[in-house]
Amino acid sequence: MGTRIDEIAPDLFRLSTYIAKFDLQFNQFLVVDDEPLLYHTGMKGMFPQVRDAVARIIDPATVRWIGFSHFEADECGSLNEWLSLAPRAETLCGTIGALVNINDYTGGRTRIKASGEVLTAGRHRFRFLETPQVPHAWDASLLFEESGAVLFCSDLFLQNGDLCPVTEEDLVEPSRQTLLAYEAGPLPHAFPYASWTDDTLRMLAGLSPKLIAAMHGSSYRGDGARALRDLAAMYAATLGQGK
Ligand SMILES: [Fe+2]
Ligand SMILES: [Fe+2]
Repeated sequence: MGTRIDEIAPDLFRLSTYIAKFDLQFNQFLVVDDEPLLYHTGMKGMFPQVRDAVARIIDPATVRWIGFSHFEADECGSLNEWLSLAPRAETLCGTIGALVNINDYTGGRTRIKASGEVLTAGRHRFRFLETPQVPHAWDASLLFEESGAVLFCSDLFLQNGDLCPVTEEDLVEPSRQTLLAYEAGPLPHAFPYASWTDDTLRMLAGLSPKLIAAMHGSSYRGDGARALRDLAAMYAATLGQGK
């Protein structure tokens, strides 16, 4: 269970650990800049492995920002370990995340962002997007890096398998297959379909990402707007009223 490191865009590193019993990759993303940003920490049990992977790129103690979508072990399970390791690190989250989970869980060092607010970390500018229940969880948010048009999409485009770091092939059909496997298997109802889900996915499409950095599976390089519109249509057909 080694961690593979790939630079999938300039200064953007994907750290990927495949866990066979889940047939799933767990990916973290490190953006190297004046103020390095780690998106997803991985589970607490993965902390030594993720820390050592980061250490092959930068000094882990220099991580400045820790972002993630929602309060779940694979998103932020080792958040407190990271805050202990990196003295200048702050958690990046929205109002819901801070009030519901993060303030209590971490005991502080939280930078609360309003939806649409931008964080400049040097050459990279991160737009914080509060996206409740998308991909899932009340406190869900996503992050869009403006200079490279990179969408950190968390569990959207979730794909089973030990897959290549980046693909230009369609991700929607593998995501649909994975979604159906979740619905049929021991973990159904992972993805709620709210009355605002379609609008949220179309808002993301409006960002026109060129790279979609997926937490589980391959990242996608190409027409991100089309991929997100196709994902919205797939969600509507698979999870929505039209199913
Ligand atoms: Fe999740
Ligand atoms: Fe996840």
